Amino acid sequence: MTDSSDVATFHVENRIAWVKFNRPAKRNAMSPPLNRRMFAILDELEFREDVGVLVLTGEGAAWSAGMDLKEYFRETEAQGLKGTRKAQSEAYAWWRRLRWYQKPTIAMVNGWCFGGGYGPLFACDLAIAAEEAQFGLSEINWGILPGGGATKVAIDLMSYRDAMYHALTGQAIDGKKAAEWKLVNEAVPLAALKDRVIALCKVLLEKNPVALKAAKDAVRRVKEMTYDNAEDYLIRAQEAANFFDNTGRKEGIRQFIDEKSYKPGLSTYDITKKG
Ligand code: COA
Repeated sequence: MTDSSDVATFHVENRIAWVKFNRPAKRNAMSPPLNRRMFAILDELEFREDVGVLVLTGEGAAWSAGMDLKEYFRETEAQGLKGTRKAQSEAYAWWRRLRWYQKPTIAMVNGWCFGGGYGPLFACDLAIAAEEAQFGLSEINWGILPGGGATKVAIDLMSYRDAMYHALTGQAIDGKKAAEWKLVNEAVPLAALKDRVIALCKVLLEKNPVALKAAKDAVRRVKEMTYDNAEDYLIRAQEAANFFDNTGRKEGIRQFIDEKSYKPGLSTYDITKKG
């Protein structure tokens, strides 16, 4: 479903849901209608059987230039606290939905990525950027602190020194530097970006989907736990995953131990085969 008047769009192809920020003339800045539309799209796609992975990208020269300074800040503030809080909750709602999404998610950062854009960037499980993309905590440049989770994202992903430098200077960094600073997994030339993301999608699409959801949640959850709490959480999480898929793990063991058709250290078991 693509419509150029739509502020966010999606289409599904080969089990990949391509979701796009679609306000290229406004550098894909996040306005309240865009935030509402994104939530609706995520809702529509989350449990579709023909979707195995979701890619979030931007139309035109931007991934997202962050919150819309006019529509998200100025116009909602004009409505008082109620307007501000409503706009915040609509934005945070779809980022939170994305952080705990049923399917694995990849941010394909094709261009500008500023401020509030770090919310959905972090919400995606993996991030591949164009070397040409530009990232910045630009808030300090227009007189606010990096809010909407952006400071948290910076300190969760980057070193203390890099996060502080990023937040205080407001200087943009390119995709290569963003990979070096661990804001994204890697950066490739823009011309190679889509192919690299498709290759990564193919890796994910071969995995057991129940295990993928359990693993992505586990990585996010255990980061803030003690070792003992994490050990316990992981036992419970695997037992819960067995409830949804009690055959996958056994089949994975069977194909390695009995059939000898793959080695888990080197590749993945065939999820289409049932022993
Ligand atoms: N909020 C509202 N409008 C924005 C916007 C934002 N975050 N980012 C871009 N736009 C609008 C511009 O106002 C302009 O609108 P107009 O054509 O009606 O005048 C249009 O998008 C194009 O922007 P422009 O600045 O001309 O594009 P550019 O390619 O020269 O520069 C950026 C791109 C991203 C460097 C620049 O737009 C920018 O600095 N945006 C703000 C980034 C920011 O601080 N975001 C953090 C918000 S939390």
